[in-house]
Amino acid sequence: MTGLFITATDTEVGKTVITGAIAAACQARKVNTGVMKPVASGGVRNCQGSLISEDAEFLMAAAKIDCNRRHLVNPICFEAALTPAVAAQIEGKTVDLQLIYNTYHQLCNQHDVVLVEGVGGITAPIWQEFLVADLMLKLQLPGIIVARPDLGTINHTVLTAAYARQRGINVAGIIINGCKEPTGILEHSNLQYIKQLTGLPILGKLPRVSSIDVTAGKQAALAELAEQYLDMNGIIAIMRRTEQ
Ligand SMILES: Nc1ncnc2c1ncn2[C@@H]1O[C@H](COP(=O)(O)OP(=O)(O)OP(=O)(O)O)[C@@H](O)[C@H]1O
Ligand SMILES: [Mg+2]
Repeated sequence: MTGLFITATDTEVGKTVITGAIAAACQARKVNTGVMKPVASGGVRNCQGSLISEDAEFLMAAAKIDCNRRHLVNPICFEAALTPAVAAQIEGKTVDLQLIYNTYHQLCNQHDVVLVEGVGGITAPIWQEFLVADLMLKLQLPGIIVARPDLGTINHTVLTAAYARQRGINVAGIIINGCKEPTGILEHSNLQYIKQLTGLPILGKLPRVSSIDVTAGKQAALAELAEQYLDMNGIIAIMRRTEQ
């Protein structure tokens, strides 16, 4: 198997939650699963004073990865809560793309599957004019787009899928995150339009649940939620299909 690259229609849409849910379900199915947040911004200081990414911490907990492997899960972290290209500049640093590739290949050698979470949306600048889309192409992983369920999501999702297609990125499907239950006409029609206009499959609809919180590190029953609300068999089949 290979892995997945999880992007989204925007920041704060649920990339970390969905990546964590897939990781937890794969792990529970005894798949040796690695996780990666190649570059993060808005990092926080832990009790040892090290700058850490809350996203990476959440993903490591979901995949049951020891925190001594943090440097492999998240090789680059900035303090400023800005797109990485700008955060790096104002902190007087660069984004070492070669470090990202080398670390990713190390993870590939250690795991059967590597789930990579992007940053922001698909055109977020990582370094200068190198965008998330460029990293997706470079890592050659099938992509998943995480989208919101509410008003405006048709536009954001269709544009993201069209941009990916234009760039030659293989998008395997869409996951809707934060759905309200029961589903109303808004969410139902959004889903129909997204399917029709993108031609992509919907690989799951995860509801908003109080037991999940990335910042607070809450992730009770994440694997069970993934099994219940995501098409885990389909997602694993996508990873198998792209096996080299
Ligand atoms: N299904 C859900 N149920 C409950 N809370 C959720 C759910 N999905 C996301 N959240 C919360 O919404 C916020 C944004 O989600 P998340 O961090 O996964 O987004 P993101 O796309 O990874 O953001 P970023 O661009 O900052 O990486 C987080 O505080 C998270 O805990
Ligand atoms: Mg995130």
